[in-house]
Amino acid sequence: MPHTISETDTRIPSAPERLFFALPLDIPAENSSAFHQLRQLLQMMPGEGRPVPAANLHLTLAFLGNVSAAQKTQLCQLADPLEESAFTLTTTALKYQKRSRLIWLSCTLPAPLAQLAENLKAIAEQVGLPQETRPYSPHITLLKHLRARPDALPEIPPLAFHIRHFGLYISELFNSPRGGGVHYRCLKQWPLTPAPPDHQEMP
Ligand code: 2AM
Repeated sequence: MPHTISETDTRIPSAPERLFFALPLDIPAENSSAFHQLRQLLQMMPGEGRPVPAANLHLTLAFLGNVSAAQKTQLCQLADPLEESAFTLTTTALKYQKRSRLIWLSCTLPAPLAQLAENLKAIAEQVGLPQETRPYSPHITLLKHLRARPDALPEIPPLAFHIRHFGLYISELFNSPRGGGVHYRCLKQWPLTPAPPDHQEMP
C-alpha cells in the first residue's frame, strides 16, 4: 500500500491573530448624529498626538491579544449563547492618561455593559487568554502617543450611543504610500436582546 500523507500532516498552522471584543459606535443608523459629533470632537482635540482614525473608533469590551485559529473558534462558540440586553452608552468626560500617553473619553457603565464585559472576560480566560485583573473601565480612545500633557481638556456634552450589537474584531497592519497604520475589522457580530419594556430608556 503506498504511503499517503494526510491533509493534517502537511497543514501549516496559521499565524495567531490580534483580536478583541468591542462595540461598534457607528451602527445602528440612529447613532449617526452621536458618531458625527464624536468625529468632530476628534478634530478639535488639544495636544500633539496621533488621532485614532474615525473608522477605528470603538469601545473595547475585552482585549484578547494573540489568538490561535482554534481559540478563535472556541471564542465564537462560547459567545454565541450570550444573551445580554441592548443598552445606551453615554460618554462622560475627556481624560488624559499619562502612563499610556492617551486622551480618551470615559463612558457610563450600564448594568448590561458590565455583565457583557464580565462574560467576555470569563470566555477569554476559559480559552486560555489571560485577562486584566483591574475593574473594567469603559472608554473610547481618541488620541494616542501624546508628546506632552495637554494644557486643559474641554468639557464636552454627553453623547449617547444605542448599543444593539457587539463584535469580535481583528487588528490588522497595513502599508500605504502615505505610511502604514492599523485597521480594525469585524470578524463576527452578535445581536443584543431588545431591552424589556419596563427598562426602555427615556428618549
Ligand atoms: P482601547 O483603545 O479601547 O484601550 C485593539 O488593539 C484595541 O485593544 C486597542 O485600540 C485598545 O483599545 C485595546 N488594547 C490594545 N492593547 C491592549 C492591551 N495590552 N491591554 C488592553 N487593551 C489593549
